[in-house]
Order: sequence, then C-alpha cells, then structure tokens
Amino acid sequence: MRRSGLPRKRNNAKPDIGRVRKNRKALTYIEFADRYLEAIGYTEHGFRHCDIVSNTAYRILKELRYDEAVAGLAAAAGFLHDIGNMLGRGDHHRVGALLAKEILEEEGYDLRGIIKIMRAVVVHEEDEGVVPDEVAAALLIADKADVHRSRVRNPSMVKEDIHDRVNYAARESVLSVGPEKRTITLELTIDTGISQVMEYFEIFLARMTACRKAARALDCEFNLFINTIRMA
Ligand SMILES: [Fe+2]
Ligand SMILES: [Fe+2]
Repeated sequence: MRRSGLPRKRNNAKPDIGRVRKNRKALTYIEFADRYLEAIGYTEHGFRHCDIVSNTAYRILKELRYDEAVAGLAAAAGFLHDIGNMLGRGDHHRVGALLAKEILEEEGYDLRGIIKIMRAVVVHEEDEGVVPDEVAAALLIADKADVHRSRVRNPSMVKEDIHDRVNYAARESVLSVGPEKRTITLELTIDTGISQVMEYFEIFLARMTACRKAARALDCEFNLFINTIRMA
C-alpha cells in the first residue's frame, strides 16, 4: 500500500504539486475566494498568499528534514487551504477541506495523503483540538507567518481596522527554522508609526498560541520577535 499520499500517476520520488497549482478548479476557487473576501473587506487571500503559504509549509518540513513526500503534502495543503472562502468566511476551513478532496482526487493523490491534507486545511483555523500531524503543523505556522503590508487592499482604510493596520505596518516578516536546536522563529519588522507593538500582541496572542502548539507537533520551540524584541 502506498503510504506517502503522493499522486498515484507519478513514479518518481519527488512530489510535484505542479498539477494542483494548474488545476482549473483550484485556480477558479482561489480567484472566487479572494474576490469574496475583497467584497467583505478582508486582506488579500489570493494567489500571492496561497503560493507563499505553500512554499513556506514545504520549506518548514524540508528544513526539519522530513521527507520530500510529506513536504509535498504540506505544499499542496498550503496552496488549497483558503479555497473554502469562496462560499463564506465562517466555515471556510471545513468547506475548503471538502473542496480540496475533489481536486486532489482529480489529480490522483491517494486517500492517505488526501486525508492528511484535508485535516491540515481544517486545523489551520481551528481553535480547539490538537494539531494532528506534521502536515497540519507546517500549514498552520506558514499561514500565520504571512503578515505583510502587501496584503492590505486599501491602505487609506488602515485606521479603521486593526488587522489591516497590523498587516500594513509589517515591513518584513522572516520565518527561520533551526533544525539542530529544533526552533521555528518568526521575526517581524513593524513600523510603530502605523501600529504599536501592543496591537501586534493583541492580534498575535491567539496566533502565537496556535503556532506554539503546531511547533510542538514538530518537536520544536516557537519564537516570535517583533522589532528584535522577544515576544514569545
Ligand atoms: Fe484561512
Ligand atoms: Fe490563509
């Protein structure tokens, strides 16, 4: 039995989520999800965000020396994790998992891999429960780490919304992985003229708790630095 969860049609060792990235449904779902979130005033959740989260989730697992197959599942989960937003924000993690299943079946992923990806998509917005495996852990951290001013659609409105302000103030966001010391570190550089560090703390407290839980599932410690000050 195949245990990797890789597409059945492939026989080489390297996972390639290229087909998922080109899947017509995946591309259309991401487009509609982002348009919906734009309509309700949310930050960017389109191809930029999906690509970054996919690449970061993959990199986290590769740098922690997980095998290519597992990292490939995290990459696919990262690309698809927000597609559920096309049908509304509230349950987008659960809806997204079901929509992802269809795409992954179309692309020949085996059931074990599909289940891991579905669970990861659900857990990326889940407040309760555990982080079930390394794929879910990598996705969760990669998603929360994507804080950047380029995600704000209307900079003139940043005064109105704390999430916009916190994103807009982020000049740089660097996630690094230390495989020897088993650390995952997020370093944010923020413009305190736009948002105060306390605002970040307010927004990031819940995210950091989730990231710490996810890091533990990878046998790592999670660190957060804001303007070189250690916050967690
Ligand atoms: Fe999400
Ligand atoms: Fe996301």
